[in-house]
Amino acid sequence: MDFSIKAFDTKNTMASAKTGCVAVAVFENKKLSQAAQALDGAGDITAALKSGDISGKAGSTLLLRGLAGVAAERVLLVGLGNGESIGEKAFTTGVQAAMKAFSTLGAADAIIALPLAEVKERDVNWSIRTVVLAGRDSIYRSDAQKSKKDPAPNGVRKIALAVPNNAGTKLALAQAIAVANGVQLTKDLGNLSANVCTPTYLAETAKKLGKDYMFNVEVLERKQLEALKMGSFLSVTNGSEQPPKFIVLKHMGGKPKDAPVVLVGKGITFDTGGISIKPGAGMDEMKFDMCGAASVLGTFRAIGEMGLKLNVIGIVAACENMPSGRATKPGDIVTSMNGLTIEVLNTDAEGRLILCDALTYAERFNPAAVIDVATLTGACIVALGHHHSGLFTRNDDAHNALAEEISAAGRATGDTLWRLPIGEEYNEQLKSNFADLANIGSPGGASCTAAAFLENFTRKYPWAHVDIAGTAWKSGAAKGATGRPVPMLTNFLINRT
Ligand code: BES
Ligand code: MN
Ligand code: ZN
Repeated sequence: MDFSIKAFDTKNTMASAKTGCVAVAVFENKKLSQAAQALDGAGDITAALKSGDISGKAGSTLLLRGLAGVAAERVLLVGLGNGESIGEKAFTTGVQAAMKAFSTLGAADAIIALPLAEVKERDVNWSIRTVVLAGRDSIYRSDAQKSKKDPAPNGVRKIALAVPNNAGTKLALAQAIAVANGVQLTKDLGNLSANVCTPTYLAETAKKLGKDYMFNVEVLERKQLEALKMGSFLSVTNGSEQPPKFIVLKHMGGKPKDAPVVLVGKGITFDTGGISIKPGAGMDEMKFDMCGAASVLGTFRAIGEMGLKLNVIGIVAACENMPSGRATKPGDIVTSMNGLTIEVLNTDAEGRLILCDALTYAERFNPAAVIDVATLTGACIVALGHHHSGLFTRNDDAHNALAEEISAAGRATGDTLWRLPIGEEYNEQLKSNFADLANIGSPGGASCTAAAFLENFTRKYPWAHVDIAGTAWKSGAAKGATGRPVPMLTNFLINRT
């Protein structure tokens, strides 16, 4: 899908624009948006609205053809709510409805002339990003492994946004397209089956990104991980025939000496639970257990395309969690890279075992901040549902500020988070009789004890943990990866430049 900016003025009017379709807003109070007024020379739009053919409710649409005095072949009326003010939700719903309507048109191009600059508490850049992400979402197909591809339903392939053409809107559009490309990579990786999307596949993807965007990419193999004493990470790979990969990407867009932001992703390409094996029903969804890793790679694609002027390091710890005669057993004690010993009471709590070594490895970069992203706990879905990712930081002034910075990046992109606690009381739950700590906590607060476990390995830098178990993919009829939290992460990084 191709996006561009089309500015209108008194010479170059909306009514004279030659295009397959112009989308304009109408409201429940029977008012027309400015762009709709500009096309209402003969009163056709007013008549359609007055007759009740369209309610104006957010997401309602009505297609009109061949309006008198309008060069566009079609006009799509899009309801954006009551007309008092345009809320963020109403705008998003309206844009999604417009994209859906575009998908069944016999037109190749269209203009979005919705009031992008009039969304309450949001700027035009936010609206541009919303249009681009909704458009790309509407044409996304998860058919990479189908022999017959799903039909491409979208008639409209070229979308122009009616906004002033200036440096600000140009940059916003370019950034929005980069985010959409990052989201797409993250979805594609998440949706691939686990026999294809192996740790090796993730490493190859990272190398390809390195070539495309000039990142330095290093892939550490088992031997090197042994030399680094990543006993915790390696213990998870014991049952698997697939070699583990520890992937490090470097985007040095800032000043050479500036401390980098480090993103760490959980890349379990399939989580059977290991010897503490999961029940069979729905186990296929554990192919999504690498969505943290995929979101790091997707974010790198986005910032690479943007040429972001910031130093960012990506770490992806990738392996499978499988049962076998060689697999780690409940009660086994392993030694992590930072020297802490861990009693593996449950081999299904494997995410923290790979992340703790990745977080220790991150120390060498003297990070300005480290954010780890992981489908870490089913309990996070119990706590927050599928709406918000879980956000954990230490509870001191600096970390409260970091949590707020991440939350704000989430709010601004609709890729929201909700803060949950860690602290001494949760560390108490992780005590082991035989090792420095256990890999699961005593019952209660499983997302918090998982985060508290990780915290033990992050004391040398500012750190936040994002649990995306509920937000990284959808189950049911619309099963598939969402691409979250690429919009939040990218926005966080942009805001740091
Ligand atoms: N990958 C899972 C977490 C998960 C489960 C994400 C379901 C999304 C949906 C993780 O490795 C895991 O198995 N966690 C266990 C931890 C428990 C053993 C303490 C869980 O959440 O049940
Ligand atoms: Mn698990
Ligand atoms: Zn897992």
